[in-house]
Amino acid sequence: MSEIPRSVLWREGIVQILDQTLLPGEETVLQCCDIEAVFEAIQSLRVRGAPAIGIAAAYGMVVGLDDYVSLQQLKARADLLKSARPTAVNLAWAVDKITARAARELAVQSASLVKTGIERVAVAKLENEAGAIHAADIKACHAIGELGLAIVEAHPNLLTHCNAGALAVSELGTALAPVYLAHRRGIELHVFVDETRPLLQGARLTTYELGREGVPNTLITDNMAAHVMSLGKVDAVLVGADRVAANGDVANKIGTLNLAVLCRYFSLPFYVACPLSTIDLKTKTGDLIEIEERPVKEISYIGGQQITAFPLQIYNPAFDVTPASLVTAIITDRGLVHRPCRENLSRLVYG
Ligand code: MRU
Repeated sequence: MSEIPRSVLWREGIVQILDQTLLPGEETVLQCCDIEAVFEAIQSLRVRGAPAIGIAAAYGMVVGLDDYVSLQQLKARADLLKSARPTAVNLAWAVDKITARAARELAVQSASLVKTGIERVAVAKLENEAGAIHAADIKACHAIGELGLAIVEAHPNLLTHCNAGALAVSELGTALAPVYLAHRRGIELHVFVDETRPLLQGARLTTYELGREGVPNTLITDNMAAHVMSLGKVDAVLVGADRVAANGDVANKIGTLNLAVLCRYFSLPFYVACPLSTIDLKTKTGDLIEIEERPVKEISYIGGQQITAFPLQIYNPAFDVTPASLVTAIITDRGLVHRPCRENLSRLVYG
């Protein structure tokens, strides 16, 4: 099997981003030398998937800086990066972590009266923080894989939506992490892949990944899921998440809610996999999650070809929110949360 290329890497002060808009046809790695290039890559979905955009943004906070940086400069960088995409909480979480680290460094400096010029923080320390975010995501993905393994074993015929695999994270994946581990350990399984209109993350990315790993999979269009379930070909749905609210409501790629509703109708379990960094206890309920709206051309054009007559109105929300009541369990790197709700999630996060 050929390895799945990494979505984001940090090499000698440059953020390397695999351009996912060109996949599966072309594997091009962008060399992002400044924050503007990282911002553009996130906004255009060259790098996408909640954890991966968090990692890219963490490196985006420090790329192209001289040796020292002020808190003010960092806050301006954070505001710019956060404006790239609003729904996936990992992005804001990661840039806030870098800013908080800088604030801590400055507090230590003033406490010990060791001033490095004009209240500036060594960029090397913040680079380490970004590296730590990256390394923690790798660990989280492997933990999700191990903790989700029993679910995949018990439900070997899965259906997934969008792409919550290696390309959406540091490596391995969230929803696809237990799938890969199960496959590597000889468990027979099969994954139905929703194509995921309008940007086709399922058709372009998930089938590419699963194919590289040799996991048996079948591509379907989004509107075929109910039919496939009605034929008894699906044991469970397993998806990723962009943000989980404190009450367990889950924001994920548009079309996820359809699957959760179908699961309830067909009495199938609906599983969500995500790292702790995707759980946002500050957002009380799913209706408070900002849903990104994207350019209408993503719907009116397919492969550069206009498919609609005009004038017409188009609505293009990139995500939807599945109520916690439709979620069987959330698989996190710290454990499974069955019947996700406020109490269960805060117990998980605060230990
Ligand atoms: O718009 P995208 O491609 O960034 O959306 C990605 C998803 O919705 C994923 O399911 C989610 O980020 C989980 S990734 C492990």
